[in-house]
Amino acid sequence: SAAQKGGFASFMDKEIHDQPSAVADTLRGRLDERGKLKLDEGIIAETVLGAVDKIIVVACGTAFYAGMVAKYAIEHWTRIPVEVELAHEFRYRDPVLSVRTLVVAFSQSGETMDTIMAVRHAQQQGAPVVAIINVQGSTIAREADAVLYTRAGPEIAVASTKAFLAQIAASYLLGIYLAELRGNKFPDEIAALLAELNEMPAKIQLVLDTSEPVRELAHSMVNERTVLFLGRHIGYPVALEGALKLKELAYIHAEGFAAGELKHGPIALIEPGQPVFIVLPSPRGKEVLHSKVISNIQEVRARGARTFVIAEEGDTEAAHYADHLFTVPQTPTLLMPLLTVVPLQIFALELASAKGFDVDQPRNLAKSVTVE
Ligand code: G6P
Repeated sequence: SAAQKGGFASFMDKEIHDQPSAVADTLRGRLDERGKLKLDEGIIAETVLGAVDKIIVVACGTAFYAGMVAKYAIEHWTRIPVEVELAHEFRYRDPVLSVRTLVVAFSQSGETMDTIMAVRHAQQQGAPVVAIINVQGSTIAREADAVLYTRAGPEIAVASTKAFLAQIAASYLLGIYLAELRGNKFPDEIAALLAELNEMPAKIQLVLDTSEPVRELAHSMVNERTVLFLGRHIGYPVALEGALKLKELAYIHAEGFAAGELKHGPIALIEPGQPVFIVLPSPRGKEVLHSKVISNIQEVRARGARTFVIAEEGDTEAAHYADHLFTVPQTPTLLMPLLTVVPLQIFALELASAKGFDVDQPRNLAKSVTVE
């Protein structure tokens, strides 16, 4: 009903606007000042977690992209190798697992059958499983060895938004905790990170408050046939998620690419007028990464692409190469996905709405796929 949508035209619009509180609730009270995390249900002994030599994330859909984001952050903070795998591929390829492999299942519903089967397979091989789940008491939450709940609240729209941000926030907590357990070598860095994390809800709110230009842009693009998304480093999964949202909601062919891969194939797709969204990393402390993506923007622009750049505030170079520039508040590169994905969610929502589609119930999709 209209009341349940809180005055928004759709559940999805409401859920996009719930994101500051979804992230705040997921973070609140979870870590003490030393970075020690309390898991919600079940237990994995600290001796087991401290001895982990490999992490494998299993998930499907949007949750899989949250897992890709987590990989960049967790590997950097903990130095533990992290693999991210689609649950249905993991299950049927005889993965190498041991008691020292921590399997982390990401799922909003906790009922995705592909992910359930992956969890069961991991447990049969003796690997401990932590689940990052939104729905309390769901199958994966019950079967996993320990659970870290995302506190995004009920997500009704089929396409996931606030659960994605909450999954990323929860995975950061897990990463900081594992770093701490292994003898945190950078206490100042962790303390600074925790402070930055606590500022994220207000920064996400700022992105929402300045999203009108994205909405206007979407209305001007209802006739596009193909939209491409580029990202590098932790912006790569954001590009993939931006493309997925557009496919799911607006039924427009959309693809996300690693920006560095452009020259190895996808650049052949660029023709005059082709819209390309680019998720630009921060130039602060990541100058090389930033300049590589700037080069990628120049490459597609030289071939006639229209460029839509998501950059951080104060990035003076970005404006030179963007036909349309959208900025997000400054934050450390590893936290940027919590901000940069928001304009892409809004773009897909608005474009689909402008085409008259039901954004809460896209055709052919189910909120939770309970068959393999
Ligand atoms: C379905 C939904 C997607 C979701 C995926 C994983 O395909 O349509 O939006 O990302 O399942 O769902 P889960 O509940 O496991 O996060």
